[in-house]
Amino acid sequence: MLEVEELHAYYGKSHVLQGVTLQVGTGEIVGLLGRNGVGRSTLAKAIMGDVDAKGSIRFLGKQVETLKPHQIARLGIGYVPECRDIFATLTVRQNLELGLKSGRTAGRWTVAGMLDMFPNLARRAEVPAGVLSGGEQQMLTMCRSLLGDPALIMIDEPTEGLAPKVVEQVGELLREIAAKGVSILLIEQKLSIALKVCSRLYVMGHGRIVFEGTPGSLQSRADIRKEWLEV
Ligand SMILES: Nc1ncnc2c1ncn2[C@@H]1O[C@H](COP(=O)(O)OP(=O)(O)O)[C@@H](O)[C@H]1O
Ligand SMILES: [Mg+2]
Repeated sequence: MLEVEELHAYYGKSHVLQGVTLQVGTGEIVGLLGRNGVGRSTLAKAIMGDVDAKGSIRFLGKQVETLKPHQIARLGIGYVPECRDIFATLTVRQNLELGLKSGRTAGRWTVAGMLDMFPNLARRAEVPAGVLSGGEQQMLTMCRSLLGDPALIMIDEPTEGLAPKVVEQVGELLREIAAKGVSILLIEQKLSIALKVCSRLYVMGHGRIVFEGTPGSLQSRADIRKEWLEV
């Protein structure tokens, strides 16, 4: 579904992506792990067309590397950035409604359906989103993205700063999203959640992929974890 090949990106003279190759298949949850600053968010932004990059990006059989961000979004790629950019003064419901694509027939997700699925959000549908907890804000940004009906969603460090119990809830939500047929590229630093929910994992180090394999194979590679993941 998503095939990235030999992708390079620069910020000025700094060579941030140094030939990244990665694939996400239909309905898969794929993890992209790595320490802070290795280039994971830059890769997501390059796929969205928000950062200039050289190389090949194919999505649903189409070359998309020359398309504009709004065209890429319309083809069905969603990105949930690290900063949970909710609109604090708008209500939860209004935030969700902003995710609906105008001029598009109803997708697999609706605002009412979302609120049914998430009683926590439903209870607070009419309150300003700014009063939600970190975990609830994370759920809200993911739900808002899904309302745009993406076929693939890239979620950037969704568990950052969340309590362990909330991290588990986010993990459950990721599984529910994938069960609805949406592919997920999960960008994480936490190995624990990635090992639990992902079918395949990539580890990035200094702008390149340094490991690719199943959670089981990463568990048996203490050398990779020590060099590229543990802090
Ligand atoms: N807008 C930017 N301008 C210049 N350098 C940046 C910018 N964004 C990120 N960087 C740098 O690029 C590198 C990769 O960053 P990033 O993709 O955000 O890493 P990650 O998401 O893996 O933590 C880091 O060294 C970071 O400081
Ligand atoms: Mg990042």
